[in-house]
Amino acid sequence: MPQKIVTANWKMNLTLPEANTLISEVTNILKDEKRNSAEVIFAVPFVYVQYFSSFLKGQPFAIAAQNCSEYEKGAYTGEISAQMLASVGATWVIVGHSERRLYYHETYRIVGEKIQRALEAGLKVIFCCGETLEIRDKNEHFEFVKNQLEGSLAEITAEQMKNIVIAYEPVWAIGTGKNATPEQAQEMHAVIRNYLKQKFGSQIAQDTSILYGGSVNAQNAKTLFACQDVDGGLVGGASLKSREFAEIVKSYN
Ligand code: PGA
Repeated sequence: MPQKIVTANWKMNLTLPEANTLISEVTNILKDEKRNSAEVIFAVPFVYVQYFSSFLKGQPFAIAAQNCSEYEKGAYTGEISAQMLASVGATWVIVGHSERRLYYHETYRIVGEKIQRALEAGLKVIFCCGETLEIRDKNEHFEFVKNQLEGSLAEITAEQMKNIVIAYEPVWAIGTGKNATPEQAQEMHAVIRNYLKQKFGSQIAQDTSILYGGSVNAQNAKTLFACQDVDGGLVGGASLKSREFAEIVKSYN
């Protein structure tokens, strides 16, 4: 069975005091709950990784970075390596988010390199994929997402795949308030699981968590997460509101 996972993706939002308030509120609400089965991860800006890793020590919440360098180390001014992130307490990293692909021109190859560096550093990876509206309108979305997967996972072994989670995030649903329907999410997740089965075998396919992302909120989380092949969510906008995000996590109670 795949682990159920709900990840907050704060993106480039929140000052440290604001972030502190938010994370304190969320963790307070959730700690009074009977512990549900979903793993909760906060993907925070680089500069807060160490702070919140210490803050959450001993609590059942994990810290992710939102990106890492494709290089191990060296003269790459301004970059942050996967090893650095691991050394300050991150246990996860998001790789290949559509905003990185679009604004920072990350190719399949670069995304694949980042996955390798992250795994070498002992981080677990949330690997994002998803099509634009233009591609969906041409009915090429299944092919496109399979190419994205193959483009960056080609060199990945079945053993490595145990530390990778897939997040399907249709670009047209991100930050638009227009989420994929449960049917649209389910059919793409099934295609992704089938890809994993062909490439890595049934066991890996069955055990890999496939998250949905794109305008997840407290209203739609329950029906999206109820889909057979949806194992949780990657939540942007709604993760910036403590009650709302806690409600989304509680969809698994
Ligand atoms: P959203 O973002 O929930 O604001 O649509 C999701 C994401 O980009 O991870």
